[in-house]
Amino acid sequence: MVGFAKIFAFFAAFTVLVAVLIAWYTRETFDPESLRGKKVVICGASTGIGEELAYQYSKLGARVLLVARREAELQKVVSHCGKLGAVTANYIVADLSTLEGAKHLAAETNKLFDGLDVLALNHIMGIYELWNENTDLSKLPQLFAVNTISYINIATLFLPQLKKTNGTIAVVSSFAGVVPVPRTGPYCGTKHALHGFFGSLRQDLALQGHKGISITTCVLGLISTKNARKAVLQHPVGKGVKAQPVDECAISMVKGIALKKRQMYFPWFLSFVETVHFFFPNFVESIIQVASNEKPMQDMLFGATDILILNHASFPHDFWNEDADLSKVPFHFAVNTISYINIATLLLPGLKKTNGSIVVVSSFAGVVSPPNFAIYSGSKHALHGFFNSFRQDLSLKGHKGVSITLCILGAISTKNALERAKSLNIQNGTLLFETVDECALAIIQGAALRKREIYFPWFLNVFETVHFCFPNLFESVIQVMINEKPVGDLLTW
Ligand SMILES: *[C@@H]1O[C@H](CO)[C@@H](O)[C@H](O)[C@H]1NC(C)=O
Ligand SMILES: *[C@@H]1O[C@H](CO)[C@@H](O)[C@H](O)[C@H]1NC(C)=O
Ligand SMILES: *[C@@H]1O[C@H](CO)[C@@H](O)[C@H](O)[C@H]1NC(C)=O
Repeated sequence: MVGFAKIFAFFAAFTVLVAVLIAWYTRETFDPESLRGKKVVICGASTGIGEELAYQYSKLGARVLLVARREAELQKVVSHCGKLGAVTANYIVADLSTLEGAKHLAAETNKLFDGLDVLALNHIMGIYELWNENTDLSKLPQLFAVNTISYINIATLFLPQLKKTNGTIAVVSSFAGVVPVPRTGPYCGTKHALHGFFGSLRQDLALQGHKGISITTCVLGLISTKNARKAVLQHPVGKGVKAQPVDECAISMVKGIALKKRQMYFPWFLSFVETVHFFFPNFVESIIQVASNEKPMQDMLFGATDILILNHASFPHDFWNEDADLSKVPFHFAVNTISYINIATLLLPGLKKTNGSIVVVSSFAGVVSPPNFAIYSGSKHALHGFFNSFRQDLSLKGHKGVSITLCILGAISTKNALERAKSLNIQNGTLLFETVDECALAIIQGAALRKREIYFPWFLNVFETVHFCFPNLFESVIQVMINEKPVGDLLTW
């Protein structure tokens, strides 16, 4: 089985290479005139990437509306936008970390704009430290509130506006949103969650007849903004990785968003690193640790009881749209994500003593986003972001003995899951439910072998690979399998 997965992976990688070459030769061209008069909202626009995005859109003659907490900074940026050629430049002061702040923003925007072409979600709160049992856990809810939940809130509240004009949601993510990087555990978690949620939302919108709305996730490397420079300079990565110019980053984002790409990368080679990481995770993480100056070159090739099993979950499911109940989102992240981080952190001293194992029960929705499960998928993606970063922090601090196993489970025939399947269309699809005892056995074996990941059923590993190479096609197959659309629509997405 493993042999088959490997061979499959090789052919998939080869196919990707060919696909990349074809895409390169037939790539779409960007028409700068197409942005004249377009209505653009940028969150987190008082500084950094958001500020630069505002300038680039202004140069192209767009109408910009900038959002941040600090009014004095916003005023300066807005006046510069006017000089650069923005058709209109306005700002709204809002604290986006709360649902009230997001509602205030939506209401004020509705007064100014009828329809919206680009919603750029860009504001962040960063944490940069090696995670361990002494880390301050009280910061976690605020971090998820700013970096994840507010993105979900704002995107949801703006859906009516985006539907009017077939607008684009631009989600500013990070390399840490697709590949785990050390020292960024919870940040990685919050960014992974965005890929989970928005990957599912894209499908929910299409299944509800709103294919016109596009979602572009922006995977950015280390960008030379004032805040990023300040954050990394005191850490080894500041001397290892070269920061990329912020204006080139913004230009590349504007193009990717205008071309309605599913995902854009800046610098472009991050796409390549993500692909190699997908097939050789330990190896690439080791290279990243050397490249970011966290460990010496000669440690490159050395990757990697008591057992802690994290398994509890809340299970929100429904097509996501503007009527979704946003007030419950923090609760689902608290149960499915933050509590896992809290428990693993608090029990770390004991696990270190015995070289124990942390077993994190995730789901196929943690690596691929199915429709109907946007919040669930977001909260499970976040676990992969956090724990894959945390594993590296442990190893860098000399605790290679503690292992972390992520369990990627398919549909398991527990009583609750069968009940839920009844309320969805799933039970009439071709999805097979696996027995719960075989599943438990697979988890115990995988944890004992200290595997990085367990897939149950095993072929989810192959599914993940196919999705990685052909996301739109594979998501369409899943939608047919769970009976969300007829077989005849297989090749339309
Ligand atoms: C939006 O896109 C949909 C599907 O692609 C199309 O049917 C609809 O006419 C478009 N609406 C506008 C306002 O452009
Ligand atoms: C735990 O693992 C580390 C590194 O693999 C090893 O040096 C240490 O002796 C182990 N400790 C125990 C208690 O087994
Ligand atoms: C599934 O099929 C059964 C009978 O085969 C039918 O009664 C039921 O309404 C179907 N459910 C859905 C959600 O389509």
